[in-house]
Amino acid sequence: MNKDDSTINKFYIKNYGCQMNVSDSEIVSSILLKNGYSLSENIKDAKIIFFNSCSIRKKSELTIINQLNKFEHLKKNGSLFGMIGCFSKEFKEYLLNKNKIDFFINPNSYKKIPNIISYRSYKKKNTDFFFDKKKESYDNIYPYKNLYEKKVTTFLSITRGCNNMCTFCIVPFTRGREISNNPDFIIKECTRLYTLGYKEITLLGQNVDSYKWKQKNNFVLNFSHLLEKLAKNIPDIRIRFTTSNPHDMSDDVIEIISKYENICNHIHLPVQSGSNKILKLMNRKYSKEDYLLLINKIRKIIPNCSISHDIMVGFCNEEEKDHLDTIDLMNKIKYNYGYMFSYSPRPGTYAYNKLVNNVPDHIKKRRLQEIINLQNKHSLYRMNKFLNKKQKVLIEGSSKKNNKHWYGRNQQNLVVVFPKNLYTKIGDLVSVKVKRVTSATLIGYMI
Ligand code: SAH
Ligand code: F3S
Repeated sequence: MNKDDSTINKFYIKNYGCQMNVSDSEIVSSILLKNGYSLSENIKDAKIIFFNSCSIRKKSELTIINQLNKFEHLKKNGSLFGMIGCFSKEFKEYLLNKNKIDFFINPNSYKKIPNIISYRSYKKKNTDFFFDKKKESYDNIYPYKNLYEKKVTTFLSITRGCNNMCTFCIVPFTRGREISNNPDFIIKECTRLYTLGYKEITLLGQNVDSYKWKQKNNFVLNFSHLLEKLAKNIPDIRIRFTTSNPHDMSDDVIEIISKYENICNHIHLPVQSGSNKILKLMNRKYSKEDYLLLINKIRKIIPNCSISHDIMVGFCNEEEKDHLDTIDLMNKIKYNYGYMFSYSPRPGTYAYNKLVNNVPDHIKKRRLQEIINLQNKHSLYRMNKFLNKKQKVLIEGSSKKNNKHWYGRNQQNLVVVFPKNLYTKIGDLVSVKVKRVTSATLIGYMI
């Protein structure tokens, strides 16, 4: 690289996958900015381009390969390509062999990125990567926030990695074992975000309910304690969290949600399947009956709580009767919304090594469509319950469909659209009466 080149220190990060990756990009940006690098506004001016990868399903990897092909000319012109985030060993080897990426950095090694860049810049060889096995929490690194975006909602990771070892999931391998962040840092960071103008924070973790921090007096601070501390310390900020593994969700957390107005009434509770046989094969550690009891408890303690899910069809040995069990569970619960997937075998996982991916693609496709259709029906059913009701909505921006309308979300994380007036702005919390609904949107007017 030519030292006189003014773009030499410019980096750009392209995000794929979940909110956890967005949150990781903010940490990486923060580390690089502190080390004299500057953020490029567009990819073509950057000398170092990071692809923040997602390996959760084969499809995610294929998207990234397509993107790497699209940007190949930038690599040929001398930009360094680095991969961060969630990538499987096989994906890494494939990209390395094809010479698509210059260096890979796992989520425990972000602090080493400046060293790796300078090393790689003069070595000019895709030698090896600096892989730390040691768990890294990034406490004391304030994630970089792009304030020009004028966003009022943001995310903060409170745990990293996962110990659950669901048999289909690659996350414990790509992100490593679970580690919780220091609660003092979390509170300090949430306070900072509030003073920066954010009005809503979503706490992130693969399994937030397993958050724990041993204090000096040996008291173990758990997720319900953390939620309560945040709700009390920053009463004007809305708090959300994701994801809760049904196995680890405690009664205390449900009680704390119901006790504090600023903790939103929404729980994302991935069930994956309604069949006990499949749940066992997935190593999910709860049964359909346990899950239904948990839902009943939530609905009793927080009557207006919305509940969303992740469901996966076509896992190994899933027969029609297992699929019907999932449909039965969905009919019993009638979720507000959900994310639905078709099983994709991931190298290195237990399911990949020991079970057989024996549900044909056309059956996976049909089952997936069936649950998507059913969920749409249930979403509409749930949305109808909001008709003529008053909602507290945080204004997030202009509606994409109509610039004269605001777009925001209510406590239950449902999208609400309504006409603007002269006195409201992004970040205001307003009351909206719902007059019309679709399966995805509540439509109304301010009162
Ligand atoms: N921590 C979350 C899951 C994170 S991954 C939990 O407790 O459930 C997000 C979702 O991706 C999962 O809920 C699952 O539905 C889906 N998923 C994970 N691995 C998958 C795979 N191999 N194939 C298809 N979908 C998968
Ligand atoms: Fe994956 Fe299960 Fe953890 S789905 S992220 S191993 S809770």
